[in-house]
Amino acid sequence: MVEPIDGRFAVARAAAREAGALLHAKLGTHLAVRSKDVRSNLVTEADTQSEALIRSMIGAAFPDDGVLGEEAGRSGRDSEHLWIVDPLDGTTNYAHGYRCFCVSIAFARSGVVEFGIVYDPMATEMYEARRGGGATCNGAALQISHHDDLRDALLVTGFPAHKVDDPRGNLRPFADFMQRAQAIRRDGSAALDLCYVAAGRFDGFWEPGLHAWDIAAGMLIVHEAGGMTTDYRGEPASLDGGQIVASNGKIHNAMIETLRPYA
Ligand code: IPD
Ligand code: CA
Ligand code: CA
Repeated sequence: MVEPIDGRFAVARAAAREAGALLHAKLGTHLAVRSKDVRSNLVTEADTQSEALIRSMIGAAFPDDGVLGEEAGRSGRDSEHLWIVDPLDGTTNYAHGYRCFCVSIAFARSGVVEFGIVYDPMATEMYEARRGGGATCNGAALQISHHDDLRDALLVTGFPAHKVDDPRGNLRPFADFMQRAQAIRRDGSAALDLCYVAAGRFDGFWEPGLHAWDIAAGMLIVHEAGGMTTDYRGEPASLDGGQIVASNGKIHNAMIETLRPYA
């Protein structure tokens, strides 16, 4: 008998690939774009179509499973088996034709994330991790970076669409890290930011105000590549905790020292 997780992993892979193809095909076409709650928080027809496609593939194979998706919310009776889906992470980039976005799909059993998949259709990079099974990109093992001094670190962050000027927002931590790290990027896709930490391209990532669908897959991918994820206090990061720090582990304490005042 096929292990139930194996079957779901195969469906997740296929769904990520198909949703990625949909995003690729619609990029640069005349898309319907609207704001959600605030003007800068966008949703496009590609977001909703991608989520519908992923939901239909999950529903066809595992009709009772719960699904938490950014656009359509929570569905399904089964709370033990939960899919966590960001059908398009990097919507602002996507709406402008900036080629940094992805599909993120995670699966949790009884609250524990069992696998995570992030697919970047422009780079055709498929990041995958299974709990306890390591992390790969297109089949090659992922490895976090070796930098152990914040002054040599390339960091990445993001800013929530809401309350950019909130004192607990990200402008002050950003300014602090500008003085303490080698350089900072702001790429616009939290799920890909995490995968880049796992791949050793970035040494660390932090961001406030994120949701489970942004980070569930990427956090497992970082862990399985040998990296570390916590909240701003250095405590285990919760999926809904809002504040997350991910790193190669070696610069983690230095990142926490900078972020703790903002926790
Ligand atoms: C956003 C991206 C971005 C991050 C935002 C997220 P979305 O997700 O991950 O990098 O800074 O906080 O909301 O809306 O493009 O799926
Ligand atoms: Ca997102
Ligand atoms: Ca999204």
